[in-house]
Formats: sequence, C-alpha cells, structure tokens
Amino acid sequence: PKKAVVGPLVGAVVQGTNSTRFLVFNSKTAELLSHHQVELTQEFPKEGWVEQDPKEILQSVYECIAKTCEKLNEVNIDVSNIKAIGLSNQRETTVIWDKLTGEPLYNAVVWLDLRTQSTVENLSKKIPGNNNFVKTKTGLPLSTYFSAVKLRWMLDNVRKVQKAVEEGRALFGTIDSWLIWSLTGGVNGGVHCTDVTNASRTMLFNIHSLEWDKELCDFFEIPMDILPNVWSSSEIYGLMKAGALEGVPISGCLGDQSAALVGQMCFQEGQAKNTYGTGCFLLCNTGRKCVFSEHGLLTTVAYKLGRDKPVIYALEGSVAIAGAVIRWLRDNLEIIKTSEEIEKLAKQVGTSYGCYFVPAFSGLYAPYWEPTARGIICGLTQFTNKCHIAFAALEAVCFQTREILDAMNRDCGIPLSHLQVDGGMTNNKILMQLQADILHIPVVKPSMPETTALGAAMAAGAAEGVGVWSLDPKDLSVVMVERFEPQIQATESETRYSTWKKAVMKSMGWVT
Ligand code: G3P
Repeated sequence: PKKAVVGPLVGAVVQGTNSTRFLVFNSKTAELLSHHQVELTQEFPKEGWVEQDPKEILQSVYECIAKTCEKLNEVNIDVSNIKAIGLSNQRETTVIWDKLTGEPLYNAVVWLDLRTQSTVENLSKKIPGNNNFVKTKTGLPLSTYFSAVKLRWMLDNVRKVQKAVEEGRALFGTIDSWLIWSLTGGVNGGVHCTDVTNASRTMLFNIHSLEWDKELCDFFEIPMDILPNVWSSSEIYGLMKAGALEGVPISGCLGDQSAALVGQMCFQEGQAKNTYGTGCFLLCNTGRKCVFSEHGLLTTVAYKLGRDKPVIYALEGSVAIAGAVIRWLRDNLEIIKTSEEIEKLAKQVGTSYGCYFVPAFSGLYAPYWEPTARGIICGLTQFTNKCHIAFAALEAVCFQTREILDAMNRDCGIPLSHLQVDGGMTNNKILMQLQADILHIPVVKPSMPETTALGAAMAAGAAEGVGVWSLDPKDLSVVMVERFEPQIQATESETRYSTWKKAVMKSMGWVT
C-alpha cells in the first residue's frame, strides 16, 4: 500500500546516562510519531568510578534508529520524510579514541565519576592568580564533574592514550563529538566537532569568547590538537553515513539540559525548567548576559541556535543523583524490580516516618560542591521498612531541587512563581506532589513531556539548509497539562526541609 505522507519529519537522538532513545516528530505539529529506547550498561570498576562503553553507546544509537524506522514503516509512514536528525546527550562524559582505527582508547569516563578527586586537589593548589581563574573563564568550579580533569586522568594513566596522543592519532570528545564523528563516517571522513553547549561543560572552553582557551589548556596540560571544532547548536555538521537514515543531515546538537530548556520553550530571560533524569538539573535562561552565581550555581551556555544567532546563557543548579537513586534501589538493594514500582511502595506509606536519605553517591554538587560527602540514610527505627526508604528517596530528589531553587531565587532576585518540569521521573505523581509540597509553589508539566528530544529536533529542523521547523516565537508555545499545587502548610515543608539540611551536614566530610 502507498505510504501516508505526513510532512517533513525530524528525528532526535537522546543519549542519556541511563539509556539511549530515538524519537521522530512531525515538524509542523511537534507531534511525536514513534520512538525506541535501549537501556545502557554502567560499569563501576572501583568505588567511585563510573564508566560506559562508547561502542555500546554508538550501537544503541543505530539500534534505536533502526527500530524506530521499523515502527514507522509498520504504520505506513515513509522514513524518507525524515529530513534532519538532532542530537542531545549526557554532558561532560569523556571519550578519547583513535582516529585511524575508530576504536575508543579507554571506556567513557562518566560525568558522575569521582576518580579525579586527587587530580582536582593537585590542580587547585596550582591555580594561577586568583581562585576564580577557572570560574571566570568557564562559569564552572574546578570539580570532578567536568571533562578536563577526566581527560587529564586518561592522559596520566592510560598508556594507549599517551601513545596515541604522541603519534597524533588521538581525538577527544564528549558523547556528542564521539557520536557525530562515528555517525558521519568515522575513519572515513567523520566530522570532529561539538557544539557550544557541550563545549561549555569541559572546563577548557571560554564562555565569553566561545573558543577553546589556551590558558586553560595549558593549566590542565591538554594538547589543543585533540579538541573538536566548536560549532553552534543548529547547523549541518555532516550526513549520516550508514544505517536506516543514511544521507540524512545531523543538524542539531545540544547537551541534554540545554535541549530540554529549548524544548520547554524557555526562550525568555527568567524562564526556567527542571529535568529529572539520572541527575536533576534546573536551568534558568539569563539571555545574552553571563550571570555569575553567588550561591553555588553554574554559569553555562544555554544555546546558540545558528551560526549567526546570539549565544544565550543560563544559570544552572546541578544535582548529581535523582533517578540514579531509584536505579540503585533496584540494582543494588533490589527492593524494587522496576523503577515504576517505587511509586507503589512510597504510596503505601505516604511518609518516610522521619527517615532521611541523602544520596550523595558522587559527593554533593550544587549548591555545596562537596566531594567529601557520601550517601547516608538516617533517622531509622525498628519501624522503618522499605516503603519508608522508597519514600525518603523520592523526598531526597525534592529536597535537592528545593536547595537549587532557593539558590536560583537568591541569584535572580525574583523568585520563580512555579516550576516547569520534565524528564522520566515526572510520570511519578507522588514525586510531583511531594515536589510541590516541598517547594511550596505549583509544579507544572507540559503536554509534550519529551522536551529534551523536542529541543534537539527543533534545533535540527530549524538549521540553515534544512528549514523545516519554525523558531518564530509566534509558532512556539508550550501547553501545560498537569499542575500540582502544594497541599501541606508552609510550616510543615520548612520543618521537613530543615531536618533534611541536618542530614546533609552529616553526609559531608565522610571521606577525606
Ligand atoms: O550533566 C549531566 C547530564 O547531562 C546528565 O543528564 O539525563 O543523563 O541525567 P541525564
């Protein structure tokens, strides 16, 4: 039968820490037509280390594209209507590979990885001039979170990496670079690039000049010839060289949190969103101004939607562990079989009964930036059971969001009147209600929850030379469907929040 034509389509790869997905949208209506998801392996070779296999990640992208195309074919949608592909990715995770063989020279060192703690300590002793050397150029604190120290660690510790660098065969990239290079041909002419949002998470990128910074590269002793070219978030980087969508341009690239900001249509200064994934990230658009936080937030590049378009900045509150605590309860404690079960357990009790869970598995990020913190569960009695622990885990996600929202409100001066949310965990109604209770402002969810994918698709579809998605403000709006109003007294949220703070203090200084 003749296949139904539904107008230009745009695909989006969403490469997260937990899974890879491919989603296809109708560029005229933003309707999601089909998608496929593959969960990824995470390796924990030593305490505090987190790695992933770059080849498995690449394979998962091909698999998701192939499966989604099959599903589209089954409903008579012609995949030749897919005019562009956007990419959004877990940020900071660091890959180094051999450009002659296409082989990774080490596993990807994931953003959550803590192995670089001593690297960070040693580097902070040699900071030139003033303590703000890294922060003023990059908007970031010197931390294990960002790519430069992960790359430094590989250069110091992996013989294969050292040799490839000496022989001029090594290429560095965050996941976006690794994927774009591989998907556009790899050893046969793959394009080595990244976008400004991903570059801004490396600690090597000057967020004012929008270039790799020679002084920073010298400070971290990173050879500049292994770095990718930095382009905008919306332009044609290259064409797919294989697979079901061979020949389709890859024309959008954004770190996942930037993509969600775009997908939530936060184009105005002061608009913010919070995404609940492996971690939890609250970004507030600060327009063309680079605002520096006084309360532990990061300054980051929000997006630059075209070569000639202005760069837009954001303030970011980053929480390392959100969805990851649910995966930990599933995989390590095995108190649930699927992530969805957490809601059922928490609902059975509706309270943690004084149990507090600080999931500082990777130290604490914003607003503390405390690498010595480790996870604790406290306030236990003989009455405590797994349901209370499940509830405390969900509450922890909400308390951590409260901490970054408080910091954001202090930095911005105007408190947010409501919180726009997205991400997988927002399907959990108990979590969303708890979030509204603990913030004591309404929490609102868009009708199209796939905002990260949507943002990447928009960037790809709007790129020069593609032009199938309009970024004209009159065509952009976000419809909010679910709204959670606070249902407890403000005094009760304050009491619970201050007990949480006590628990946080106990989690700090656990390791030296
Ligand atoms: O900075 C890390 C972030 O990009 C990871 O995102 O979606 O895997 O939690 P996610």
